[in-house]
Amino acid sequence: MGIEITYIGHSAFYIYNEKTGILIDPFISQNPVANFDYKKYRISQIFVTHAHADHLGDAIEISKETGASIVCVFELAQYCAKKGANVLPVNIGGEILFDWGCALFVPAYHSSSTADGVYGGMSAGIIISIDGAKIYHAGDTSLSMEMQLIGDIYKPQLAMLPIGGCFTMGINDAVVAARLIKAEHIIPMHYNTFEQIYADAEQFKKLIEAQGQKCIVMPCHKEPN
Ligand code: NI
Ligand code: MN
Repeated sequence: MGIEITYIGHSAFYIYNEKTGILIDPFISQNPVANFDYKKYRISQIFVTHAHADHLGDAIEISKETGASIVCVFELAQYCAKKGANVLPVNIGGEILFDWGCALFVPAYHSSSTADGVYGGMSAGIIISIDGAKIYHAGDTSLSMEMQLIGDIYKPQLAMLPIGGCFTMGINDAVVAARLIKAEHIIPMHYNTFEQIYADAEQFKKLIEAQGQKCIVMPCHKEPN
């Protein structure tokens, strides 16, 4: 793989290579575990899985600052456009081509509304193909049979799965999800940011490895001083 992945914390990631950089769910300024200065990085697109504040995060501000488009479900895109962001509206099932690869929006079992109560359309997971790597970011979701379809048809090598419980699946369901998705590598996310979503990532790692998959528990990025 010619790509690098930075874990910003919660469900926020920065994925990049020499030519491009994309943000997913850029919850940064209000994220108690994030220490990431987006101004230092090349950002070509900002992917957002759904409208909740811990995922939309700083997307609108970053779009306005950098000109990068927010790629998200139609209703949320309309909201972001009204706030002055550049947007690329999509919906579930849509595959979007970029000069660096493509992205496919898939179902997530979750709700989606903005902090000020605007309906955000359906919640999504996103499968990103870049530099020969296929990465599935599940967004916020429960366990679902859709994941088996994702594993059978799209065959991601890497899956980022929420494990924090309460608002998403917890460890035990995420282990089953990993089994359905069949990705070689699993990265846990959406845990330990707040008290309600405490989860033991090392326990998750043990369970994932017991079923023959690899688990990468990523530390949150810290900007050098
Ligand atoms: Ni959510
Ligand atoms: Mn969330």
